[in-house]
Amino acid sequence: TVHTAPLKAANVKITGIKTPSQPKPNEQLVFGKTFTDHMLTVEWTKASGWGIPEIKPYGNLSLDPSACVFHYGFELFEGLKAYRTEDNKITMFRPDKNMERMNKSAARICLPTFDSEELIKLMGKLIQQDKHLVPEGKGYSLYIRPTLIGTTNALGVSTPDRALLYVITSPVGPYYKTGFKAVGLEATDYATRAWPGGCGDKKLGANYAPCILPQLQAAERGYQQNLWLFGPEKNITEVGTMNVFFAFKDSSTGKKELVTAPLDGTILEGVTRDSILALAREKLDPSEWNINERYYSINEVEERASKGELLEAFGSGTAAVVSPIKTIGWTGNDIDVPLLPGEQSGPLTKDIAKWIADIQYGRVSHGNWSRIVA
Ligand code: COI
Repeated sequence: TVHTAPLKAANVKITGIKTPSQPKPNEQLVFGKTFTDHMLTVEWTKASGWGIPEIKPYGNLSLDPSACVFHYGFELFEGLKAYRTEDNKITMFRPDKNMERMNKSAARICLPTFDSEELIKLMGKLIQQDKHLVPEGKGYSLYIRPTLIGTTNALGVSTPDRALLYVITSPVGPYYKTGFKAVGLEATDYATRAWPGGCGDKKLGANYAPCILPQLQAAERGYQQNLWLFGPEKNITEVGTMNVFFAFKDSSTGKKELVTAPLDGTILEGVTRDSILALAREKLDPSEWNINERYYSINEVEERASKGELLEAFGSGTAAVVSPIKTIGWTGNDIDVPLLPGEQSGPLTKDIAKWIADIQYGRVSHGNWSRIVA
């Protein structure tokens, strides 16, 4: 039998610690462009398993040009956030969900899996090291980017026998320069983000590069993002790189519905999506609201908008959290989504954004969703 080493946080080696850098003022933080002083790296080999985790100064990687990450897309990542709470603790939001998804992504492209709790502890140590760089304030947080790549140096297409797991962190503000501002979308039915039996539910880098072109094409026509449709039914799946929710009202019964696409393998299993569904099921009065994960199409949205039954729409993701939608371009027309007078969202979208922010910034606790780091 072969004995290979598991990932172990207790083995961490901390080397070359830098004198803490000066945090940038919040206004200067552009999403994902500023990084903290240190990073975490761990190598894996098929022969020995996980090596010694290292926390060391942020810096370049050195890889052979034949490394399989560069040729065949052996890459996956995660995105989660640490928040400075109002009582000045630092917490990670639902890291167990991201680790679960990261392991599923790894298994799908034959990269090594690991014990989730061990990587959570290691991310905690990395954040503690750079905790002076976790920004404070509404909409600000530390974005954490765990990444796993195949590093086998060979051009044959095969199972990687070497890999590198690393984690970098980035102080961030609101994802869009415009902040919490309703966006316009263009529905895209000429390109497909994901398909049954594919990998659209995994957080692979390979799912993201092909998303840019439809977004650029939407931008040329004045929309900020594209809305992904799937199949002859033109079902709504995601928006840009986020999950998406719609709210409707049945004009005959008066009953309202919050709806998002089901996790059928074509939808990213968003942690924010899951959190919104859980909070909506806890907080919305079931005599007023149905909360459904079901298929729904752009045609349904268009038809219900024309009957005054479209109430709200918003994207959900870790980076932007909740991103309200004001209009959807579809076959040359705009479907308008109502907003509160003088505001940037509808009432439910606003409530949901607040429920989540209250938990993230430590004003309200919710089970084990906030994991204290420091
Ligand atoms: C999200 O958090 O919604 C994302 O998809 C992150 C993006 C920067 C890849």
